[in-house]
Amino acid sequence: MNHFLDVADYSPSEIQDILDLAVRLKEEHFAGGNAPLFKGKVLGMVFQKPSLRTRVSFDMAMRHMGGDALYLSPNEIGFGKRESIADISRVLSGYVQAVMARVFEHEHILELKKWSSVPIINGLSNFSHPCQAMADAQTIIEKFGSMKGINVTYVGDGNNVAVSLMHIVVMLGGNFTIANPEGYDIPQAAQTTGAELAEKSGAKINFLRDPHKSVENAQVIYTDTWTSMGQEDSAAEREKVFPPYQVNSDLVAEADKDVIVMHCLPAHRNHELTDEVADGPHSVIFPQAHNRLHAQKAILARLFELA
Ligand code: CP
Ligand code: NVA
Repeated sequence: MNHFLDVADYSPSEIQDILDLAVRLKEEHFAGGNAPLFKGKVLGMVFQKPSLRTRVSFDMAMRHMGGDALYLSPNEIGFGKRESIADISRVLSGYVQAVMARVFEHEHILELKKWSSVPIINGLSNFSHPCQAMADAQTIIEKFGSMKGINVTYVGDGNNVAVSLMHIVVMLGGNFTIANPEGYDIPQAAQTTGAELAEKSGAKINFLRDPHKSVENAQVIYTDTWTSMGQEDSAAEREKVFPPYQVNSDLVAEADKDVIVMHCLPAHRNHELTDEVADGPHSVIFPQAHNRLHAQKAILARLFELA
């Protein structure tokens, strides 16, 4: 059984193949539409947290390719409360052809996978956000032609988005730098996986505290919210610690002159990213969001073994 839980579960060439397919499906989409390869297939979408991009891009990916999607809100299935995850997984497996789930605990995705007889997709957990990373890589490759040797700097919290970005960047031969305050590091297990992937590809990883040093020679600057979903209790503390890590025009001016600025969105404007940068000439935040659609199609097609 194929699943899509983390980019590091795949080899670099498998990830590159999915990215190549995403490019092909994007071309097809704009050249009159995709073939209805997903006819007769339904994707179950289990959400424990809110979503705009993940929900709509997966739903539209299914519809564009002749399939359908079913949204299951937190209130509906009482994930792990009304019913055990093991039971939910076995029941859903008999109704739909794949399940995409957005959860709090990463272990819950692993539990879904353990009991499922259909592919499980990680639509964001507290640990990682691999579907986002696929669209991110697609966006970077569209701009630079390849990930090889590209300097990608992430400024901010060492969160789920940072983990998946680090893994996909170094896996494909890009160099990854992160600048974050003490206490907000990328989890050790993800750092270890990153180091292993980097060793294989020859990429470099730098863990820094200084945002200014981190953007020297950066061709990509990436940031994300200082307070992820589920961390609301520590938001006030985070608002005190993170302001030096704001991506603003002064910071962008210290990077490569052709730098692109990325954010997975939703953005908290004038917190981690200023309006001026978000809406300025270096920003690719909307093409990046739109690439979610094409990346999801490619992930689904691979899991359904249809392309
Ligand atoms: N980037 C992203 O996953 O957005 P949503 O939370 O809106 O799905
Ligand atoms: N790090 C953010 C990403 C949202 C898409 C969160 O988990 O809330």
